[in-house]
Amino acid sequence: MAMTEEKRKLGRRNFIKAVAAMPAAGALVWKASGMTPVRAGIIGPGGQGRVLMENSPPSHIRLVAVCDIFPQNLEKGLEIARKVHHPRAEAYTDYRKLLERRDIEAVLIAAPLWLHDSMAVDALQAGKHVFCEKTMAHSIEGCRRMIEAAQSARRNLQIGHQRSYSPLYRQAKQLIDGGVIGDVYHVRALWHRNGDWRRRVPDVDFDPSPWGYPDLEHLKNWRLYNKYSQGLMAELGSHQLQVVNWFSGRVPKSVFGSGGIYRYKDSREVEDHVYLIYEYPDSLTVTYSSIQSNALDHYYEEFMGTEGTIILSSEKEAMLFYEGGAKEATELKVESAAGGPVMQASESRARDAAGSNISGASTGFSALRGYQNEIEGFCATIRNGKPNLCDGPNGMAAAVAILKGNESIAKGEKLEIPPQLYYTT
Ligand SMILES: NC(=O)c1ccc[n+]([C@@H]2O[C@H](COP(=O)([O-])OP(=O)(O)OC[C@H]3O[C@@H](n4cnc5c(N)ncnc54)[C@H](O)[C@@H]3O)[C@@H](O)[C@H]2O)c1
Repeated sequence: MAMTEEKRKLGRRNFIKAVAAMPAAGALVWKASGMTPVRAGIIGPGGQGRVLMENSPPSHIRLVAVCDIFPQNLEKGLEIARKVHHPRAEAYTDYRKLLERRDIEAVLIAAPLWLHDSMAVDALQAGKHVFCEKTMAHSIEGCRRMIEAAQSARRNLQIGHQRSYSPLYRQAKQLIDGGVIGDVYHVRALWHRNGDWRRRVPDVDFDPSPWGYPDLEHLKNWRLYNKYSQGLMAELGSHQLQVVNWFSGRVPKSVFGSGGIYRYKDSREVEDHVYLIYEYPDSLTVTYSSIQSNALDHYYEEFMGTEGTIILSSEKEAMLFYEGGAKEATELKVESAAGGPVMQASESRARDAAGSNISGASTGFSALRGYQNEIEGFCATIRNGKPNLCDGPNGMAAAVAILKGNESIAKGEKLEIPPQLYYTT
């Protein structure tokens, strides 16, 4: 997507002009009347856990308990909880103790992938509602257990694919549903970075082996090891395939993947370059790549239709191009239902939520909005039954896609994905 800034600007303006004509996307407005905040705990206030804590509005949720095995993260999490959520928030190292608290209605799970299913199932069985970070689980079986536990406990289970709650994505979906870009037979999605994906291992005296990590390297860099992680597809690709599933209303029926550890031949076990072709029913093919040797393209999803193209880039920029020449567009602002701008054409240089640099102008839309909205949505489902926009079956569909993708890379062969692997009632 080597694109001139002029072209990006035109694409953004086209998008803004197109959505300005639409009614506001379903507002996630908290009905102040009588709604009390959900009392909750968080398990795993690491990088993402703390982003969630800081973006969880206290009007909707109060994080009164924090659990982490790593003392530094527990401390940092507790500090945020006490400052933002409740002055007497408490700390735990064993999440089961947190689950014993009867005043806690819900938990946010932001621990490494391998723990999602056991923590979520334990929480649901203890009667808590669960918001679990993506990817849903390390195995297809794990996803299924989570859905079944939520059903038997009659509790809300939401998976943290925040794009489901992003006004930008919801508007793009409305445009596509309205036929603005015609029929879509091809989607290209990618997430490209240039770096080793390693976290610095702190020089502290802490033995994580009682929790299944032989040393601090494995606790800090869990993403790089198969026991805990499903690599780039789980950490990055699942978000983007979830969007394709949602926008197309379909799930992949086959995948062919390739890749390997091309660049970082250190102790890691997960690929640093992956390339996949997903076939969806009814003539839709998605090509996906995630590489760690070049960051020019950064990350985006590109829907190529017979009448036009929509590109959703870095979770904060949306562009629309028409086939057969550019329709001129005037500069407009779109207001969100809550009153703030959903996006505006003003130029600003910004860093994405994951912290890597992107050159080029942004829309002024913050990727963090998705986190805030998804937590508000989680609380609205609990309190007044608003639809859950990323429920267990939805999270599982993205998980199945990436897990089969990884299996295809490992086997070096194209795999069919039978419909019964997805969750159907
Ligand atoms: N939605 C998003 O955009 C997004 C972005 C980044 C990460 N994530 C997801 O969030 C999850 C966490 O990722 P991260 O980058 O924050 O990782 P992280 O390593 O920074 O944080 C994980 C935390 O869990 C703690 N932990 C590990 N084992 C534990 C246990 N047994 N009990 C309690 N705590 C335990 C760790 O000490 C750490 O503080 C992953 O599933 C990841 O995919 C989502």
